[in-house]
Amino acid sequence: MLLIDQLTVELAGIEVLRHIHAHVLTGSTVAVIGRNGAGKTTLLRSIMGLVPVKSGQLLFDQTELLHTAAHRRASLGIGYAPEDRVIFPTLSVLDNLRLPAEVLGLTAAETQLRLDAALEVVPQLEPMLARSGAALSGGQGKMVALGRALMAGTRLVLLDEPLQGLAPVLAEQYVQAIGRLRQLRPTLSVIITESNASLLHGMPDQTWLLERGALSLDTSLAT
Ligand SMILES: Nc1ncnc2c1ncn2[C@@H]1O[C@H](COP(=O)(O)OP(=O)(O)OP(=O)(O)O)[C@@H](O)[C@H]1O
Ligand SMILES: [Mg+2]
Repeated sequence: MLLIDQLTVELAGIEVLRHIHAHVLTGSTVAVIGRNGAGKTTLLRSIMGLVPVKSGQLLFDQTELLHTAAHRRASLGIGYAPEDRVIFPTLSVLDNLRLPAEVLGLTAAETQLRLDAALEVVPQLEPMLARSGAALSGGQGKMVALGRALMAGTRLVLLDEPLQGLAPVLAEQYVQAIGRLRQLRPTLSVIITESNASLLHGMPDQTWLLERGALSLDTSLAT
C-alpha cells in the first residue's frame, strides 16, 4: 500500500535519508528502529510532506505522494502523531480530537463515527474529553495524539516514538491500544518509530533498522 522507492532527503546539505527502499503492506504494522538522529522523524515527515525530498518515489496505492500537496495527504487517509505531540492547550481534549475531522471537512455524522472508533481503541480518552489540552500529562498527551492520528488515519497511521518518556504502565496501555487497533482495523497500516525495539513486545509484522539515514536490514518476514 505504501512503496518507498529510493527515497533520498537532504537537509542543510546533508543526506539525512539515503536511498530508502521499502514496502508497507496493507494491514501490516512496521516498526522503524533507529538511534537518535538516524532519520526516523525525517522518514515520517517526508511521508507527510513536511520536508523536501531530493529524489525517489512515495507511492501510496496509485497516488504519488510527492505530487500531492502536504495538506492533501491527510485526506488520503494518512494520520500522523508527531514526536512532539502538539496538543492544543486552549482546546479541550474532545476538540483536539475533532480538529483533523474539521480540517478534512467531514460531516458531523462521519466525525462522530471516527470519534467512537478512536475511543474504542483508546478508551482512556473517554473520561478526559472535557479536560483542557493544557491539563494533560506528557503520557496523556501521547494518548490524545494517538486518538487524533486515528481521526484522519483510516488507511495509514504514522506514530513517531510514542513510547518515548512514557511511564511503564502508560507504555503498556499504549502498546495494548495498538494491539486493539490491529484487531479492530485489520486493513489499517501502521508505521511506528522507536529507538528500543523491545518496548514493542514483538508486535510489529516487520522491523526496519534505520542507521544513519539508510535501512541496514529489512526483516520483512512476520515476527
Ligand atoms: N531541519 C533540519 N535541518 C538540518 N538537519 C536536520 C533537520 N532535521 C533533522 N536534521 C538532521 O537529520 C538527522 C536525522 O534527524 P531525525 O530527526 O530524522 O532523526 P530521529 O531518528 O528522528 O532522531 P530522534 O531519535 O532523536 O528523534 C539528524 O542528524 C538531524 O540532526
Ligand atoms: Mg525523531
